[in-house]
Amino acid sequence: MIKEKVRVKNFKIDGVCVTGQSNQTILEVAHDNDIEIPTMCHLRGLSNVGSCRMCIVEIEGRHEPIPSCTAKIKEGMEVTTSSPRIKAAREMILSMMFSERSHTCSTCVVNGDCQLQSKSVELELGHSFTPYLNQRFEVDASHKNFVNDPNRCILCTRCIRVCDEIEGAHALDLFGRGLNTRIIHDMDEPWADSTSCTSCGKCVYVCPTGALYEKDISEEEVVKKREIITELVKNRGQR
Ligand code: SF4
Ligand code: SF4
Ligand code: FES
Repeated sequence: MIKEKVRVKNFKIDGVCVTGQSNQTILEVAHDNDIEIPTMCHLRGLSNVGSCRMCIVEIEGRHEPIPSCTAKIKEGMEVTTSSPRIKAAREMILSMMFSERSHTCSTCVVNGDCQLQSKSVELELGHSFTPYLNQRFEVDASHKNFVNDPNRCILCTRCIRVCDEIEGAHALDLFGRGLNTRIIHDMDEPWADSTSCTSCGKCVYVCPTGALYEKDISEEEVVKKREIITELVKNRGQR
């Protein structure tokens, strides 16, 4: 197979001249240059799926904003990471995440260590713009160490990707459609009965919310090790 040549591209982010490689995304180059773009489904070390739309940016000459975690850089492009339109869109995305499931932070085990919560504070989301749907899903607490609570899930699929791409188990998948979509183990077995799960806990570490968490620990003891994936990928690359 002929490998595509990687070329250097020059472009602008928020008026700042930046340089990247043609196989990089706008988000990667922004992060390399300490330009902050909010994300949710993205996690360094995993593939990007562009599902949450939190990282949208505007491109000069293009009508619709695009997700910066999946968009490759182009020579001469002019990227805007923040504008009244983008801010309103990000607020609406967050608002929909809150109203779709049950996010009562005061009674959540990851209260204080939740990326949905911290993003809302960061973007100054004072209230939800969309009506609460009060979805109710069964909680799976069958595993000896972990709990799967779909009521807190934002369907970012980080857990599926880490299980597939890093652990190599592919124990998780999405099941159902629309509002009823949820994360399942194997063929929708209780977590304890999953034959492909290795109980490594990586899915729990990367989950941005309280949808996956460790059993029998208090709010103060919760430590999500989201950066562990970047470390694992880096170390594998060095071998
Ligand atoms: S604990 Fe590990 S193997 Fe099991 S579902 Fe999570 S990532 Fe996959
Ligand atoms: S369980 Fe957590 S990591 Fe998995 S899709 Fe839901 S919110 Fe994302
Ligand atoms: S972080 Fe880019 S679409 Fe979710």
